[in-house]
Amino acid sequence: MPQTLDMERLPAPEFCVQEVRSWTEALPQQPLAYLHSFGCQLNVADGEKLCGILRQMGYGFTEDIEKASLILYNTCAVRENAEDRVFGTLGSIKKLKRENPALIICVTGCMTAQQQVADKIRESYRHVDIVLGTSAVSRLAQMLYAHMHGVRYAQDIEIYTDIPEGLEAMRESSFKASVPIMYGCNNFCTYCIVPYVRGRERSRKPEHIIEEVRSLVAQGYKEIMLLGQNVNSYGKDLDDGMDFPTLLRELDKLEGEFWIRFMSSHPKDATKEMMDALIECAHLAKHLHLPVQSGSDDVLQRMNRRYTVEKYLEKVRYIRSLDAEFSLTTDLIVGFPDETAEDFEGTLSLMREVRYDNVYSFIYSKRTGTKAAVMQDATSDAEKSERMQRLLALQREISVENNRRFLGRTMRVLADGRSRKRPEMLTGRSSENMLVEFAGDETLIGTFVDVRITETHNGQVTGVLIK
Ligand code: SAM
Ligand code: SF4
Ligand code: F3S
Repeated sequence: MPQTLDMERLPAPEFCVQEVRSWTEALPQQPLAYLHSFGCQLNVADGEKLCGILRQMGYGFTEDIEKASLILYNTCAVRENAEDRVFGTLGSIKKLKRENPALIICVTGCMTAQQQVADKIRESYRHVDIVLGTSAVSRLAQMLYAHMHGVRYAQDIEIYTDIPEGLEAMRESSFKASVPIMYGCNNFCTYCIVPYVRGRERSRKPEHIIEEVRSLVAQGYKEIMLLGQNVNSYGKDLDDGMDFPTLLRELDKLEGEFWIRFMSSHPKDATKEMMDALIECAHLAKHLHLPVQSGSDDVLQRMNRRYTVEKYLEKVRYIRSLDAEFSLTTDLIVGFPDETAEDFEGTLSLMREVRYDNVYSFIYSKRTGTKAAVMQDATSDAEKSERMQRLLALQREISVENNRRFLGRTMRVLADGRSRKRPEMLTGRSSENMLVEFAGDETLIGTFVDVRITETHNGQVTGVLIK
């Protein structure tokens, strides 16, 4: 069919959902979709919404890519290797399109929100039919509608500021749920692509969040993860006086047996009110992820993080003054442009002082379009890798020592599945976000159990179930 549609004036998404549904219902067999989300939990949450929309449009789902009539990759752009993986995967599915020209291939997410990436896909991956940026959740139906009307390549990488409410997410778990509370980021850390691909901060209205959490708890969800690139600035764009600590206290009023977690929390905006809420609210898990990125003031300044090591430590000391063993984790970047040996020693010394329960560490990856991408960098890749090895070794030592504090204690654990290494055992997470392994029956998955810790290791503890 020739292209007859005006892509600038597509019908409303709700109309397109109905149109695509009529089209899928007229097919001899229900079409199946294969969806894979890369990247952070926010992207995975978008993926769950995209599945919800696909289901509304009549799609079923498959994990076997060869059986799919629609393949959707929801991508991440945070580091170069994440992008390389997607390009590799796109290359490998070209043959599927050759064998089945009716197959619809769709790429969405943070990677495609960059013009140069969308251009590369259009020019070099001509088997891709639809490219959508980070507003895919609100626009997927329109793109499929365009595809049905003969548009060979449909693209929309604009970042829309609307927040689609009321969409049924198709959740991967029946007891753990992610709830985005805000989208976008205003911080422009100089290494980071996120503000460019996700746009400025916009908060969901508190009544929508509270209603969603209430409904999840009523359905039996036991762990709710509140998501945002910086949850501490939640509400700043709303005019109802709502802020993050108040939202936490409102959610804590909901009845039921459940935990609330959140991420990420930018240290510059981590207030005493937020930390007080964390300690005082019974539903809040006893764990704070507070990404520091570096232990050097010079690097922090060049990263545009807007705090010093001392200011960061003040916040750590405050929460530890309320609970000496409060569980803290962080993100660290190794090898930011021109990070010196002394800067890196600063990071190790900060780790020794805070004694994190876990760190998520990344070698700096240059992102085109960010300020750091044009900074000079004299540190070799070999030096960066060596620093990363030293950091990991130190964290292993700290984790092993830290975990000993759990020995002999009884920990409340949300059982979440079978252990990968020892399938006869179950695993779960404690309130501190510690990985706990124990022998137990599969029927316990998705419930809270008490486990007495008998062994501690690096990265996990093992125990016995208390009847
Ligand atoms: N908004 C969160 C915050 O500020 O903590 C972080 C979100 S980002 C998706 C997750 C982590 O990726 C960051 O904390 C940072 O450590 C890492 N990261 C971001 N950009 C990076 C880059 N260009 N190279 C290496 N790591 C990066
Ligand atoms: Fe990226 Fe910084 Fe925003 Fe986090 S706060 S998403 S690291 S720009
Ligand atoms: Fe997340 Fe990657 Fe985008 S970490 S916000 S999916 S760039």
